[in-house]
Amino acid sequence: MTFVPYDRPVRAAFIGLGRIYDLNVRAYAGNPDVEVVALVDPSEERRAQRQPDWPAARTFASAAELASSGIEVDAAEVLLPAPLHADGVVEMLGYGWHVNMQKPMCNDLSEARRMLDAATASGRILRVMENYLFYEPLRQLKAAAQEGQIGEVCGYHMKMTGSGQGGWDVPVSSFEWQLEQMGRGRGILVFDDGWHKLATALWLFGPVREVRAWIGTTPVGPGVDIDAPATIVWEHDNGVRGVWDITLAMDMYLRSDYYTNDERWEITGTKGYARVNRCTGRGIQQPSLEVYADGVMRGYHALDDDWASSFRDSGRHWLRWLHTGEGPLSWSGEEAVDVLRFALAAYASSASGGVGVNPAQLAQQPPPPTGHIGI
Ligand SMILES: NC(=O)c1ccc[n+]([C@@H]2O[C@H](COP(=O)([O-])OP(=O)(O)OC[C@H]3O[C@@H](n4cnc5c(N)ncnc54)[C@H](O)[C@@H]3O)[C@@H](O)[C@H]2O)c1
Repeated sequence: MTFVPYDRPVRAAFIGLGRIYDLNVRAYAGNPDVEVVALVDPSEERRAQRQPDWPAARTFASAAELASSGIEVDAAEVLLPAPLHADGVVEMLGYGWHVNMQKPMCNDLSEARRMLDAATASGRILRVMENYLFYEPLRQLKAAAQEGQIGEVCGYHMKMTGSGQGGWDVPVSSFEWQLEQMGRGRGILVFDDGWHKLATALWLFGPVREVRAWIGTTPVGPGVDIDAPATIVWEHDNGVRGVWDITLAMDMYLRSDYYTNDERWEITGTKGYARVNRCTGRGIQQPSLEVYADGVMRGYHALDDDWASSFRDSGRHWLRWLHTGEGPLSWSGEEAVDVLRFALAAYASSASGGVGVNPAQLAQQPPPPTGHIGI
């Protein structure tokens, strides 16, 4: 489709006013590219909590009520629980709204197809927000690799430890839908948070031709199994191999302003390496990016390494693009399907004992019934 930018601020509605609103809102505050016209959440408490941020916006209990209110909406900022993504996004595209949605896009390829088809049918844009691509230390990591500072890239490693102590409060409502996702075999570490890790690999090194995985579970309470320990390895079309190890350390205290997630990304080159030491939490309190080459270590001490800034910059990019057409837009619905395929290939490999699976060759399958682990 041909997209025509708006010659006035974009009229936007927030759909879902829960935990992550606190970070997404940073893209909208004081932004001349946008006018927030509506706030939607079935929770009266949430609506009352967020209304003072946008005194001129109207509040609604559902997107359907907003759609029939006569208020003109250009774009929806969709912050719904993940199990509602597919139906919710199809509904909102049907109202003629552009959609900027949170990850994970959806749980399976048939849902993804429905969402892409709805965008095509309505002639609207579906963007799956990937805030990690806007995290400055990761952007500099990519630049260091591309500019040859560490020589030719010869390997890639990500590490993630989920810890049970520290960070901000997570509402019970978030745990409820995360449990529903776990019941469908879409765990909180590999699939939910993992979406970002898989996305950054695709963003750094391009398409993946083979994935192998060994995804375990750790019971942490009655009926609650967390998807760790897990190890996923893969090979990109360009020959670069990646490995991502996921560990659960329930009793570890991790200082964090947000979720308690200790993360690192490390690219090894023929003459050095570049490593992002942290992202969501404050695990390694050294420069957020270090680049080693030829016997010299450079530490980047002045990057904007607050994780929340990646939400601000990702959202601003979207609103700027809608308002002015300045692009290219990062990322599209199709690119998000590549992330979904990567995750589904990992599940398929793990279920088959770790065999290699090509994400591009996964067939569209009906969603697994609730309670089924793996695909
Ligand atoms: N990018 C990231 O790093 C990141 C981090 C956390 C969460 N997320 C994603 O953000 C989304 C929301 O997560 P959260 O942590 O804010 O969850 P949450 O449970 O805190 O908030 C969800 C909100 O949606 C509301 N809601 C439920 N049904 C609704 C409906 N039909 N219409 C409108 N609102 C409805 C709930 O009342 C709640 O206020 C999820 O997709 C999650 O995966 C992304």
